[in-house]
Parts: sequence; C-alpha cells; structure tokens
Amino acid sequence: MNYQWYPGHMTKAKRMMQENISLIDLVIELVDARVPLSSKNPDIDELGKNKSRLILLNKSDLADPEENKRWIAYFKERGFHVLEINAKTGQGLRAIQPKVQEACKEKIERDRKRGIKNRPVRAIVVGIPNVGKSTFINSFAGKACAKTGNKPGVTKGKQWIRLNRELELLDTPGILWPKFESEEVGKKLAMIGSMNDEILQMTELASELSAYLMAYYRKPLFARYQISKEEKLTPMQILDLICENRKCYKKGQEPDYEKAAALLVDDFRNGRIGRITLETCEQQQEEEQK
Ligand code: G4P
Repeated sequence: MNYQWYPGHMTKAKRMMQENISLIDLVIELVDARVPLSSKNPDIDELGKNKSRLILLNKSDLADPEENKRWIAYFKERGFHVLEINAKTGQGLRAIQPKVQEACKEKIERDRKRGIKNRPVRAIVVGIPNVGKSTFINSFAGKACAKTGNKPGVTKGKQWIRLNRELELLDTPGILWPKFESEEVGKKLAMIGSMNDEILQMTELASELSAYLMAYYRKPLFARYQISKEEKLTPMQILDLICENRKCYKKGQEPDYEKAAALLVDDFRNGRIGRITLETCEQQQEEEQK
C-alpha cells in the first residue's frame, strides 16, 4: 500500500511551525492514544527544543486503559509532562492547567526574578491531521474565552485565546506531518483513519487489523461478531465470519469482503469492538532493546 502525504503540504506546515514556535513557551502535542508513537511527529523534538513540552494522549476513550497507563509512564520516563484526555467529552481537561504550571515552572520563576508579573504562558497545540486538535481547542478553551487581538511582537493575523491570567493559546493549531519511516507506521495511521481512505485498500487493511486483533484482542473481536470458535483464525476466515454475521453478500450469496472489511475498520475506529491500542509500550521497549 502506498501512504501519501504531499511534500508541498509538509514544507508549508514546517514553515508555519517554525514561524509560530518562536512565539511560544509551551508546545502541547496531541497524539492518538491508540498509536502514541506512530502519531507523533518526528521533527517536533527538534522544533520544540528549549520549549516546555506537554503530551496529551487524546482519544484515550478508544484506547486500552491499561496501555494508556503504560504510555503515560513511558513518556514521563523520557522527561515529558503527559496526561490522557478525551477532547470530545472534555474528560481529563481539568488536570491540564496545573500541569501547564508544572511544565513551565522555570519560565514562571525566571519571569518572577526579572520582576515580570502576570505574563501568561503562551502555548501552541500541535499534532498530525485528525488527532483532535480543533476539538481540543474548542472544548479546552470553551465558549467563555475571549480572543485577544493582535499584540505587539505577534505576527500579524495571529489570534490568541486567553484562557485565564496564566495561559494563552494560539487559536490555530499547528498541523504536523506524520512519520514515514516505515510501512508499519503508515498502516497504523491508516487503521485509525488519519489517511485518506480513498487511497487505501480496505480488505488489505482489514486483514492486517484482524490479524492484530486475533493476536491481542481476540475476546472483544469474537464478541462483536458473535464468533464462537476456539481456534486461531486467519484474517480471511474472520472476514468470512463477519460476512456471515452481518449479512454482507453480493448477488448470489457471494461474500462481500469489501463491505465486511469496511465494517470491521469502521467498528474499530469508532470503538465498537472495544478499547484497543495498536502499539504497546512493551513492543516498543523490545524494539528499543534490539
Ligand atoms: P484535527 O483538528 O486534529 O484535524 O481533528 P478534529 O478536532 O477535527 O477531530 C477529528 C475527529 O476526532 C472528529 O471526529 C472528533 O470528534 C474526533 N475526536 C477528537 N477527540 C476525540 C476524543 O478524545 N475521543 C473520540 N472518541 N473522538 C475524538 P469526526 O468523525 O470528524 O466527527 P464526529 O464523529 O465527532 O462528528
């Protein structure tokens, strides 16, 4: 499969990031809790060096709760401030403000020593497409917030959302490009829906997904499609059983694998199979030890 992100978009996004990052103290990076590493931008560490960093594991409602805990520990160990959230319902957002203060402790202290009072922390929200940036800004900033106009020293046209006396958010999120380092990463990003589905081969994607679910989440997979087998099934057998369970047939009772594949991927993306994480901390640590 070919996973695309156009170089032109990437150059533009990179330029925007470089321009914006000079204005801010804190980078709030959203990653998808189901694929915390594959949804992380490869260049943000370089772009955001010397800035305070906060990682938000978004869509945590769709990911395995045990894995969420492990990933939080993983990022903490590597020096990040990290929280799990659900930008859609607002769950976990209340913990952000104190975390921001903690992450920016040094800057706040520096300001205080220089006699600068009430200078809010300025933050930017960044992440790859579809990770939930707009949803997050809307629910975190809420309706009560006031947009501040252009300020001296701020690039013309930039709008800051003043959340309170301590925090201002750049109103447009930074769109980051995903990693392209391996096909594995591309596949995972396709599974969570951050690629254009038109370029994807659904049956191939569904086969990969069902093999993973068979290995790690067999119980919820079987429960969803009322599969009562004991033995290990191949992706094709699983698709067959989904066709049966969901009556996916073409004319003449021929199984409609494309339909079953789309159904499986859609069920997964929307959390209907259960809370599933596609890359585990354990797998990652094994990789790092190799
Ligand atoms: P972006 O700005 O980073 O591109 O992402 P955006 O906010 O547009 O969110 C992309 C999709 O992810 C939206 O769904 C949004 O509702 C959903 N989303 C964002 N945060 C969460 C979360 O924490 N949990 C869950 N379950 N979903 C989240 P959509 O399909 O575009 O719209 P809709 O289904 O909400 O109508």
